[in-house]
Amino acid sequence: MAEKLLEGKIGIITGALDENSIAWKTALKAKEQGARFVLTNAPIAMRMGSIQTLAEQCETIVIPADATSLADIEKLYAEAKAYLGGDFDFILHSIGMSPNIRKGRSYGDLNYDWAMKSYDVSAISFHKMMQVAEKMDVMKTWGSIVGLSYIAAQRVYPFYTDMADAKALLESIARGYGYRFGKAKKVRVNTISQSPTKTTAGTGIGGFDSFFNFADQISPLGNASAEACAEYIITLFSDFTRMVTMQNLFHDGGYSHTGISEEIMEAFGTK
Ligand SMILES: NC(=O)c1ccc[n+]([C@@H]2O[C@H](COP(=O)([O-])OP(=O)(O)OC[C@H]3O[C@@H](n4cnc5c(N)ncnc54)[C@H](O)[C@@H]3O)[C@@H](O)[C@H]2O)c1
Repeated sequence: MAEKLLEGKIGIITGALDENSIAWKTALKAKEQGARFVLTNAPIAMRMGSIQTLAEQCETIVIPADATSLADIEKLYAEAKAYLGGDFDFILHSIGMSPNIRKGRSYGDLNYDWAMKSYDVSAISFHKMMQVAEKMDVMKTWGSIVGLSYIAAQRVYPFYTDMADAKALLESIARGYGYRFGKAKKVRVNTISQSPTKTTAGTGIGGFDSFFNFADQISPLGNASAEACAEYIITLFSDFTRMVTMQNLFHDGGYSHTGISEEIMEAFGTK
């Protein structure tokens, strides 16, 4: 039988809400590849989602934690460590939410209290999870931490409003903490910039179908699915990517480096 990529590794997977979630697919792949882990999500997601079903499939437990709360993160790490019996090899941050997007506020009409919430939930929580991990010293040497981003961090996608700024901050935190954690404990930190994906967070964005279809047409390989993203995450948790850190890694079927496709040229015709 082929070697399992995550055999003997233990960790934490945030953000599995329902079976479409990138984190949900990642949990199933991580289990398949021999990892043990705990699942966590915001207390409200316990009521909305079906995470207990996933926990049963993965033979693990769910520890509720609001990723913006330092106390919740501390409790999560302490309980996860006790349950798993050791320090962590990997942490997946798969968390995003913007009240401004949810309530349809445009970039020129942001509610700033909500914008702060978007930044806290979608980006600063990444820093909080790493700072608490460092202070509690719960990461193993050569561990791997991954966050999920979107290309709106580099280019303008008008409908993405304050989430674009949150993703730019998330990617910056990956570089800043990647340097720090690399020096301190050889822990690597990366973000994956994923194609538009049909999940609760993704489809909540105005015009989702248009930019999903556009990206699918532009990308030579087509859009990357949530399942393919999960597979990429597993490689980043594995020992085969030990020297990759502080990167934002595009996982988008070639979209980010394609100027135009024949299909789009045809659709616009000639003058
Ligand atoms: N879907 C896409 O098109 C797409 C593209 C690129 C990147 N991403 C990113 O992928 C990540 C996962 O999103 P998804 O697409 O799987 O959608 P999803 O809606 O399934 O997952 C988002 C998760 O964030 C959790 N969350 C929200 N607030 C939280 C809090 N305070 N504490 C803890 N958890 C909280 C939600 O409960 C949910 O499980 C997000 O960072 C998202 O921005 C998504």
